[in-house]
Amino acid sequence: MKKLLLLTAATTMFLLAGCSRDYTPVAGESGEDIFKGACMECHEVIEGKENVFYELKSDNKNVEYFTSKIQSGSLLMPKFPNITGDSLKAVSQYALEHSTDKK
Ligand code: HEC
Repeated sequence: MKKLLLLTAATTMFLLAGCSRDYTPVAGESGEDIFKGACMECHEVIEGKENVFYELKSDNKNVEYFTSKIQSGSLLMPKFPNITGDSLKAVSQYALEHSTDKK
């Protein structure tokens, strides 16, 4: 019984930790290309806006918010362990430039 409980707990933790995507940028790929390849599957242009994908609180309107989200993911969003270094900076910058303020 104890074993079963442990197993259930382990499975739950695994599920809560979210999944991870193996998208790996090729050398020289631009932030826009990476965004199209890795992010647009889930993040679409906000209706009625041109080229805007995110509405963010002012606290979150910075590159670090994007890089940490890409590296850590969340309950619902996968993390991207293979997007690193310059690629991570480029896609974060691209996404930030295509964000607007939350009202
Ligand atoms: C499998 C679907 C999926 C993919 C692929 C995905 N995301 Fe997400 N993302 C989500 C979901 C669902 C949320 C909302 C839940 C949350 O904030 O964790 C989210 C939230 C976010 C947020 C927070 C937005 C806010 O309003 O605060 C950022 C930033 C973000 N994603 C960036 C990215 C970037 C950059 C990529 C590509 C490298 C990406 N996401 C790829 C599903 C995805």
